[in-house]
Parts: sequence; structure tokens; C-alpha cells
Amino acid sequence: MTALSVSTSSAASLRADALVVGVAKGPKGIVLAPGAEAVNEAFEGKLAEILGTLGATGAEGEAVKVHSPAGLKAALVLAVGLGEAGEEGYELEALRRAGGVAARTLAGAKKAALALPAESAAEIEAVALGGLLGSYAFGTYKGNGNGKEPVGELVLLAPRKGSKDAKAAVERAAALGEEMNRARDLVNTAPNDLNPKSFAAIAQAAGKEHGLKVEVLDEKALTKGGFGGLLGVGVGSTNPPRLVKVAYTHPKAKATLAFVGKGITYDSGGISLKPAGHNETMKCDMAGAAAVFAAVVAAKRLGLAVNVTGWLALAENMPSGSATRPGDVLRMYGGKTVEVLNTDAEGRLVLADAIVRAGEENPDVIVDVATLTGAMVLALGNRTFGVMANNDELRDDLHAVAGEVGEPSWPMPLPADLRKGMTESTIADLANMGERMGGGLVAGLFLKEFVAEGIDWAHLDIAGPAFHEGAPFGYTPKGGTAVAVRTLVRFAERTANGKA
Ligand code: BES
Ligand code: MN
Ligand code: ZN
Repeated sequence: MTALSVSTSSAASLRADALVVGVAKGPKGIVLAPGAEAVNEAFEGKLAEILGTLGATGAEGEAVKVHSPAGLKAALVLAVGLGEAGEEGYELEALRRAGGVAARTLAGAKKAALALPAESAAEIEAVALGGLLGSYAFGTYKGNGNGKEPVGELVLLAPRKGSKDAKAAVERAAALGEEMNRARDLVNTAPNDLNPKSFAAIAQAAGKEHGLKVEVLDEKALTKGGFGGLLGVGVGSTNPPRLVKVAYTHPKAKATLAFVGKGITYDSGGISLKPAGHNETMKCDMAGAAAVFAAVVAAKRLGLAVNVTGWLALAENMPSGSATRPGDVLRMYGGKTVEVLNTDAEGRLVLADAIVRAGEENPDVIVDVATLTGAMVLALGNRTFGVMANNDELRDDLHAVAGEVGEPSWPMPLPADLRKGMTESTIADLANMGERMGGGLVAGLFLKEFVAEGIDWAHLDIAGPAFHEGAPFGYTPKGGTAVAVRTLVRFAERTANGKA
């Protein structure tokens, strides 16, 4: 894991393999961002000009390398683009992305110093988080020599900042970044290694490490408790399902949040088998559970004054002689019956059980996170998640919180007319499918049926942004992204600070 620290040294005197500065698009060509002053002096004030000659434009994502002049202890200067130069500082997301680009570009280096904007604690946190996320590499399976090691150490230069504030900002970034990278590891782990049982074991071990209470219901306990949704989805697999509860409590908490994560460790579609081309990345179908787990651990590490309970609904969706058939009826936890018309609509079945169970503990809010529907990907693309809720204020709140932390999302409706199709099962209370049009909203409406009276509930459909298949950008690598972790943590933080 990349080490993060903060230093008040001047950029000129710090020993490192590389020094990172920011460049932006100004009204009259490229401009250096705050933090680059001492580096520019070593270039006799000509750094912007040199970078321009080398083709730098200040565009986001850009990385231009220059050999250091005498007077700098680092051998190399790396200029990363920040986009448009802001009149009142830079957007925090631009700083996170710049930190990420720097860390990715400098993979293989031992030590890099970041001389990026660091006026406020928020700026320091943003650069640090971007750096930590950008230095992520998943090394479980690749042999040696198959890629560069992540940069060993990132030193943030914050010369004018009170060192206490700066340290706290870097510690916050470390808690969040390390937990997000944990969620990414879980998503990237191959599904022959990560199954409900091994996921639960990882949660137990990590919970123990951080002093969190973790309870696991195995298939016997699930049968005894009547968790028909989890059992019905898991029954086709040799890897039986699990329901994991991970609880963080704070003595001064005035509110309790329940986060529920979809944890399908592999989604083959079941008997309604997915065709080739639609199943190669379905190890990511537990990204909601990974995000929920990471968020609870992060809440604990940050010591937020709020209670947070995570529920991980874990199962593997496989076709076999024992698998649930289209046409089967499941009795869900809490007693509702569901006719399974399509075994590929399995996420809502495991979530329904977990949402009912979570509701029994009377939380103030339930937020579920799920790679739930291809329809949401069609609607919003690969970088934006959908937000639905049984309360418009909560929905708008989560959308706003997501925006604050740099996670694109969009509010989606739960139109009452779409409910009808699901209630037309002639033999059960509900069917697990309704109208095809608006499939992401239909799935949301299905979940809503399982939320106890009087509880505010929101649903984040992260099917698009959970897994990144394109070229890396900013602090986002290929594979698991850990999307929704920051939204959940920020939401918990706001609740702790009195906005329930
Ligand atoms: N896990 C999938 C949704 C998904 C699609 C996640 C693409 C990530 C990327 C989910 O279980 C699923 O198969 N949904 C079906 C529901 C349909 C059968 C009602 C879908 O969206 O096609
Ligand atoms: Mn499915
Ligand atoms: Zn699924």
C-alpha cells in the first residue's frame, strides 16, 4: 500500500524521484497552479513556457514530464492538467483526479512529492485521496514483472498549512482511500475465490481488526429464519448464501443508518442464463455489498457520531439441477410470496430479505446499493448511478451528497403505474418482473414493497459505474471502482453532524 504523508518542506529541498505540479487553462494560455511557486523559481520563472513548448495545454488528464534543473532535489518534474483555472481555487474533483493521474503516471517510482494546491484542508484531502486511489493496483494474480509497482510513497507539500489540520486531512483521505481500495479488491477478486462464504470470512476478519461487530447467518440459520429470497437465489450453487450484519455504534449517536448491499458474488443469470458477452464481468455483482462494507469500516475509522449497520446479502446465482426455476414461488423473509418469472432478476430477491431484516431494527434511514439493472446502464451510462427513494427529500439529498464527493448520480422516479405489472402474478403476492420499459424503476418499485411503514428508504442502482472497463482515467483504474463508498460515508457524516 502506498504510504501517504504531509510535509512543510519547500519543494526545492525535498528529496524525491519526482515533483508534481498543476497546470491549468488560463484566459491567455496555460498557468501554473498554486503550490508550484518554488518549482517555477528553480526554472527561473519559465516553467509554464517550457511546459507549453512541450505541448501542455492544462487539460484534465494531461501529464507532461520535464527534467529538473539544478536547484531541485527531485530528478523529474511532472505537470498534471487541472482543466480550466478557477478564479476562486480549483474544484475538489479536479484535484482528486490530478492526484490520481500523478500517482498512475509515476507507478514504479519510490517517492513522489505533490506540490499541488494545498491552501485548505479540503484541498489537501482531495489531492491525497486522488493520489491514494490512483496508486491502486490489483496484484493478487499477476506474476512479477507483469506491471509496475504502485508508487511507494506520496508526500504532500503543504508549506503554509497548520500542520495539525493538514495531518488530519491526510488521515481522513487514508481512511477513505484504503477502504475504497479494499472494496475494489473485493470486486476484482475472481469469483472462484470470492463466494458468499469467503466474503463473509473476509468481513469477519476485517471487522475484528477494526473493532466492529460482525454476525453471519449461514444457510442453516437462513433456512431457520425463513430467508426465502437469499435461499432461492443461492440454491443452484454449491456455494451457499450468507447474510452478514456489520454494526458500528457510537456512544453519542442520535441516529441509526442501515446500509444494505447486493452481494451476488457471481451472476450467471441462473436458469434464465445470461448469453456470452453479458457474463464476463458479473463478478462485479457484489459491488454494492463491497461498498457497504467499506463504508461501515470507514465510518468507524473516522469515528463518526452515528450508528451505521451494514447488511451484506450474499449469494451466487448459478444454474443447476437444484436451481430455482422460472415459475417457482419463494416465500420471502417477512412472509410475502414472490413468483420468480426470471431468475436473472435475482438482486431484488436477496435485497428484499435484507431490507425486511434491516427494517426490523427500526433504523432512521435505509439505503441500499446494488448493481441491479442493465436498464439503469442504458438510461444513465457507465459513470452515473441512479438514485430512487420513497421520500423525495432523501432522494435529492443523496444526489446532492454524491455530487459533493465527486460521484455522478441522477434522481430517478418510482412511477406508481409501473407497479401494476409486478402485482399481476395470479399465484403469488408479487412477481419479480414487471413491465420491460423502465426496468430500473420497476426494480426499485419491487424493493419498495419490502420497506417497513414509516422508514425512509433510498436505492442506489450502481450497475453502470461499479466496474470500469475502459482505459483508466483520473483516479479510476480498470475494474472495481468502489463507487458509492464516498456517498455513503458523506451521508453518514452529514447525519452525524445533525442533518438527519
Ligand atoms: N446483475 C444484473 C444487472 C447488471 C447489468 C449489473 C449490467 C451490471 C451490469 C442483474 O441481476 C440483472 O441481470 N438484471 C436484469 C433484470 C431483468 C431480468 C429484469 C437486467 O437488467 O437485464
Ligand atoms: Mn441478474
Ligand atoms: Zn445481478
